[in-house]
Amino acid sequence: MTYDLRAVDLEVIFRREFELCNVQPGESVVVLAEPSSRADYVAASFGALKSLEANVIQATVPGGSPVPLPSVHTGSGAGLNAVNANPLAQNLLFGADMVVDLTNEGFIHTPLRGRILNAGTRMLFVADAPEVLARNLGQKEDKDIAKTAVEILKRGKELLVVSDAGTELRASLDDGHPGYQCGFVDEPGRWDHWPSHMVVAWPKTSYGKIVLAPGDVLLPFKSYVQEPVTLTIAAGRIAEIKGGADARLLEMFLEDADDEEAYFLSHMGWGLMQTADWFALSMYDKESNMGMDARAKAGNFLFSTGPHPFMGRSTFNHFDIPMRGCTISVDGHYVVKQGVLVS
Ligand SMILES: [Fe+2]
Repeated sequence: MTYDLRAVDLEVIFRREFELCNVQPGESVVVLAEPSSRADYVAASFGALKSLEANVIQATVPGGSPVPLPSVHTGSGAGLNAVNANPLAQNLLFGADMVVDLTNEGFIHTPLRGRILNAGTRMLFVADAPEVLARNLGQKEDKDIAKTAVEILKRGKELLVVSDAGTELRASLDDGHPGYQCGFVDEPGRWDHWPSHMVVAWPKTSYGKIVLAPGDVLLPFKSYVQEPVTLTIAAGRIAEIKGGADARLLEMFLEDADDEEAYFLSHMGWGLMQTADWFALSMYDKESNMGMDARAKAGNFLFSTGPHPFMGRSTFNHFDIPMRGCTISVDGHYVVKQGVLVS
């Protein structure tokens, strides 16, 4: 007789996460999966929610992404065709107090997410490897820390990012819709990601230069930059890419999208997650990790390209590029100096 205790082994951290999410007895919680979702995460979620006396339902829908060339664990978060096309599945999510999203890509950059949240459902996306989840299990205070940081963005007019490598980027914060992730969801209508702890804004325009330095991270490639890449930014758009092999990769990825929207900058902000491990990406195969360690590492600068819900851009081509060693200020107020959070 064989046995598989992986889910049981994980149940304690899932329960702690759901306690952070303030799951209460009698709440309706849907564990949403697709056939290739991690079975141990589905079982650990189900068991932890049951132990918290939630009304748990596990729903598995067919896989299949609206992305033209579906890959796994890219973080592009375009949702699932099966849910987009299925009012019954949507109604289940609209009617839940909380959805634990264990699908491979999650519902991040998709209009359906807004409809689920508008229904009052809170939503937690979980996709990284078990050790990444455990190491970065947050605490209640993380939300206040993120809310304090996001206030700086809300009050700000301009975000300035500079680095020794040559970055000098200015981004407008006018109508920039600042937001935060804190790694758990404990209020109706919010979405969050376990693990995460960061603030982001959605600048409508930006200009200057971004210079990626060796050791910076390219997502969704899940690779580290080997040689500098210089991006010239004009009117919120990548106008020129210069450098060696990494620059060419970036260029080809954008070209292959065959979509002008791919060249525009998307969200940008900085990481707050003190427990993050920059090198986690190098320790796992690409399918078992989403890369939240790099995305949310305290003191990083994270910028992205492609989709921009507040400017009506919905391309599936989405880079997330976390950078180390940058100095970030908002209207002259320093929040990160040389990659270290200013406390
Ligand atoms: Fe992103």
